[in-house]
Amino acid sequence: MSNFNSLKDTFTLNNGYNIPCIGFGTWQTPDGETAVNSVIEAIKSGYKHIDTAAIYGNEKSIGKAIKESGINRDELFITSKVWNKDRGYKTTLAAFEKTINDLQIDYLDLYLIHWPASANKFNDWDNINLETWKAMTELYKAGKIKSIGVSNFMPHHLKSLMETEVKPMVDQIEFHPGFMQEETFKCCNDNNILVEAWSPLGTGKMLNNETLKTISSKYNKSVAQICIRWCLQNNALPLPKSVTASRIKENTEIFDFVISDEDMKTINAMEYCGGSGHHPDKVNF
Ligand code: A2P
Repeated sequence: MSNFNSLKDTFTLNNGYNIPCIGFGTWQTPDGETAVNSVIEAIKSGYKHIDTAAIYGNEKSIGKAIKESGINRDELFITSKVWNKDRGYKTTLAAFEKTINDLQIDYLDLYLIHWPASANKFNDWDNINLETWKAMTELYKAGKIKSIGVSNFMPHHLKSLMETEVKPMVDQIEFHPGFMQEETFKCCNDNNILVEAWSPLGTGKMLNNETLKTISSKYNKSVAQICIRWCLQNNALPLPKSVTASRIKENTEIFDFVISDEDMKTINAMEYCGGSGHHPDKVNF
């Protein structure tokens, strides 16, 4: 069971860097005022960790929010991701420059390969991933990125990267009750790669789940809070997204209770539900 007591508590990555235990998710957060206001609200609520990506289209707004919030850069942990069209060595270097310019910062805490090259589209998917990884490794060694990792990688995608000079520190995968991706989860745990959970609420689809509703009422908590706490107790780092001030705060109020072992087992054993259906080898993007 995890011993997290506040948003300042951290997981330690395999390179020794600490990462604040809940990240503020920004996928599907519209650019402009909504992104600026929700990130300012998150920082006010105590989030120390913000997760974005070039493809979310909101990096400029997030940069603006960070500036406006007045928080010191070194108090924040900022993650972004290289998008699929920029895979490869030179293109990844250029994508990184654009991302830090848009965010108005001079280093990233974590940079991820957003999706492995899909076997559906590329015969040489493994080489493409390695070329992208070469650029990430170079930026890491130059200190422009404190930690590097991947997203949506399954064990067969991770294999070659784990044999390189610098192995990934993080794999950010879809992870929520009803979709734990057990094989990938185990592979990451066995290799000391931290799993981050995107869509820990199943993009909201878990919120009406009857099993979770029954469990949440026992603890006097919302289903969203159960999903977030459940990630932490599984040693996965949740990245809940919200643009609503009351929910942004609610999603941080998960340090004053513990889900029992029995309830953890019940949730871990839930049948498949609420998945996005995006299989990394079959997607068309
Ligand atoms: P909104 O952003 O409009 O507040 P996920 O993090 O799994 O992708 O889920 C995000 C979705 O869940 C969004 O639609 C978000 O809505 C909603 N959401 C986030 N936190 C809560 C909460 N505490 N209660 C209800 N819905 C929430």
